Parts: sequence; structure tokens; C-alpha cells
Amino acid sequence: MLKNKLGITNEMELAKEEERISKIKAKAMLENDFFKDKKAGTIDSLLAIHCFLFEDIYDFAGKLRDVNISKGSFRFAAAMYLPAAIQAVEKMPQKSFTEIVEKYVEMNIIHPFLEGNGRSMRLWLDQILRAELRAVIDWSQVKKEDYLLAMERSPIKDTEIYLQSLGCF
Ligand SMILES: Nc1ncnc2c1ncn2[C@@H]1O[C@H](COP(=O)(O)OP(=O)(O)OP(=O)(O)O)[C@@H](O)[C@H]1O
Ligand SMILES: [Mg+2]
Repeated sequence: MLKNKLGITNEMELAKEEERISKIKAKAMLENDFFKDKKAGTIDSLLAIHCFLFEDIYDFAGKLRDVNISKGSFRFAAAMYLPAAIQAVEKMPQKSFTEIVEKYVEMNIIHPFLEGNGRSMRLWLDQILRAELRAVIDWSQVKKEDYLLAMERSPIKDTEIYLQSLGCF
């Protein structure tokens, strides 16, 4: 259970509020030129996205985590290496669709935040796609289970998330 600014102590209730607030924020972001002064594919842009989505909920909004975390049997980048690792990912090229998917998969392996990585990173990915390829993913066409499975397998092979995204351009 994460400490939060809303004073919620029930996990289900927190998840519901988190979803409600972050959806309003994401909509506002896209309607209000949020991305205008942010460079696509940068750490600054990802931190700003996370901050905007979660600033009313968590103290750690827009801040890199300082603890190790895992999901399933996969442990994300060790907190100790996070500042260096995220800089290396920022420098990855993002000109082609293949390069952008590779960069997204690497950023997921970093998993910079304690919570809200998926939501922040999908907005970050769409900003890169818009800037570089004039395209976005239609997330309404992506089945959540298929996406999650592809992300779970992506540290071993990124082909599945590549094909999923390609089908939803
Ligand atoms: N086993 C795994 N291995 C690698 N990546 C994973 C694994 N499980 C989940 N992920 C990735 O982590 C993201 C979830 O991270 P986190 O809970 O921090 O983000 P969120 O925004 O709260 O969740 P969501 O993406 O479900 O909206 C997923 O979207 C997926 O990209
Ligand atoms: Mg989560």
C-alpha cells in the first residue's frame, strides 16, 4: 500500500482514485499543449509527464525511485544504477519505428518510478511517435492482456510489442 496525499488507506479505493485522477490529467495534457515545450524521448519529458499525472496523489510524482522493484519474476533496473541507466536510454536513437520500440522496451526495463510507469511511458511513447513519425498508437485497439504479455516478454524479445504496436497505428 503506497503512502498517498489523499489519505486513502484501502488499496482498491486508491487504485480507483488513481485511475480517475490520472485519466482527467492525461486528457488535460493532450488538450492543453503540455508537450509543446518538451523534447520527445527525453528524461525531462518523462519526469514531467509523471509529475503532471500524479502530483495530486504521490510525493514521488516526477521523481526517480530509490528502491528496487519487480513484477512477476522480472526485477527492473537496480535503483543504484538508475540515474546512469536512464541517461543511456535517453541517448538511444528514435528515428525509425524499430528504434522507437527498442527505446520504449529499454525504458520499461528501467521502470523509473515506484508506480505509474506504464501510464507515463505510454504517453511518452506517443509523444516520440508523433514527433518522429507523425503517428500515434490507437490504444483502444490494444487488448490489455495482450499488451501486458508482450511487455512481460519484451526483455527477452521485443518482437511481440513491436507487432502489437504496428497493428494499432
Ligand atoms: N513482468 C513484467 N516484465 C516487464 N514489464 C512488465 C511486467 N509486468 C508489467 N510490466 C510493465 O509495467 C507496466 C506497469 O507498471 P506500473 O504499475 O508502474 O504502471 P501503471 O501505470 O501503474 O500500470 P499500467 O501500465 O497497467 O496502467 C506495464 O504497463 C508493463 O509495461
Ligand atoms: Mg501500477
